[in-house]
Amino acid sequence: MDYFNLKDGALACEQVALETIAEEVGTPVYVYSAATLRRHARVMKEALAALDDPLIAFAVKANPNPAVLATLAREGLGGDIVSIGEYRRAREAGMPPSSILFSGVGKDADEMAEALAGDVLQFNMESVEEARMLSAVAVAAGRTARAAFRLNPDVDAGTHAKITTGNADNKFGIPAAQAIEAFRAARDLPGIEMTGVTVHIGSQLTRLDPLEKAFVRLGELVAALRGDGFDLKLADLGGGLGVPYGPGQPEPPSPEAYGAMVARVTRDWNIRLAFEPGRLISGNAGVLLSRVVRVKPGEHHPWVIVDAAMNDLMRPALYDAYHHVEAVRPSGARETINLVGPVCESGDTFATARETDRMAPGELMIFRTAGAYGAAMSSGYNSRPLTPEVLVDGDKWALVRRRIDLAEASAMPVPGWIDQTS
Ligand code: LLP
Repeated sequence: MDYFNLKDGALACEQVALETIAEEVGTPVYVYSAATLRRHARVMKEALAALDDPLIAFAVKANPNPAVLATLAREGLGGDIVSIGEYRRAREAGMPPSSILFSGVGKDADEMAEALAGDVLQFNMESVEEARMLSAVAVAAGRTARAAFRLNPDVDAGTHAKITTGNADNKFGIPAAQAIEAFRAARDLPGIEMTGVTVHIGSQLTRLDPLEKAFVRLGELVAALRGDGFDLKLADLGGGLGVPYGPGQPEPPSPEAYGAMVARVTRDWNIRLAFEPGRLISGNAGVLLSRVVRVKPGEHHPWVIVDAAMNDLMRPALYDAYHHVEAVRPSGARETINLVGPVCESGDTFATARETDRMAPGELMIFRTAGAYGAAMSSGYNSRPLTPEVLVDGDKWALVRRRIDLAEASAMPVPGWIDQTS
């Protein structure tokens, strides 16, 4: 459920008309609903209420906007981070280090040192090579790092190949057959305390059975490690639960069903559980608001050209992802269109032969479910500025990222040795 609804014939975010935001900020612009973010955080907490003190660490990569992170920090969510940039954002937003999990396959020594100095809860490591680097960093700093290894459970998550992470041929984690040896090797290293295990098999999962299979394998690893004398304190079950993207798209299981499955599978684990939801929290809390530039006749359907493009919302170009589109002030008329942006690539296509609200030049429209991996993955391709972001809370709203012209932000003089006279 979200708070983007029709009000007096036009879409509003909570109590703020999207037309007002477009008027004052310009388009394209991302608009987030604080009430929806809070609602999703609470739904997740309620779904996990049967567990003893679960840690919900928002996957910062899904939406690193400082105002979004601060809203979630007020709800008691921690952060799952994959870079020192995300670490700093999480800390600045008010997420305590004891709620921060450092994931990622390629953390470097500087990143490790800063996160260790900040005393993050756990480093989720992906190889013994990484453990050696963390050990050296910890010894140099005179500290002990709490760490886990990520299991690669070799299950098919049943999602898009580019967001599948738990297959044997993915770069992530350590295969079950090598996991105990890896834990033993890390136990022998100074400066590291092996406190946990973790698994994450992919994103936008619409079935529970692959997750259950992965968690069962993680439970077997927990038991085996305990038998080997490890004092484990945290089992991090990752993120990945899908969200509804709209009509005709696979319906994901409810957070309640997910919570019940987790409670059942982990009943005898006697360990604190952590979760890293990203999309589930912020996906349906955001829309991308755009304006139709022109409508060009097409061979089969008209080309509706909007001022948002693949650089603003990459998901359709990258994963053939579906985003539901609607007119901000629907007339009731419907039309089958091709929806595209202005970037000079045929991949800059949001929808092909889609029946949707009729959209005329100058009119506003939205892409739904754009609050996760939307602005976060945007770029300045075609020398387009980075899209601004707005947060709405009730009848209040604020610009929380301004429109950024990357050419201006990164301007350097052209080197004198380039002859610019000819
Ligand atoms: N934990 C780890 C270790 C992850 O790698 C991810 C996402 C998450 C948690 C959060 O997953 P979520 O709950 O959001 O599914 N750009 C893609 C999604 C990439 C996900 C990467 N890892 C997309 O737009 O669909």
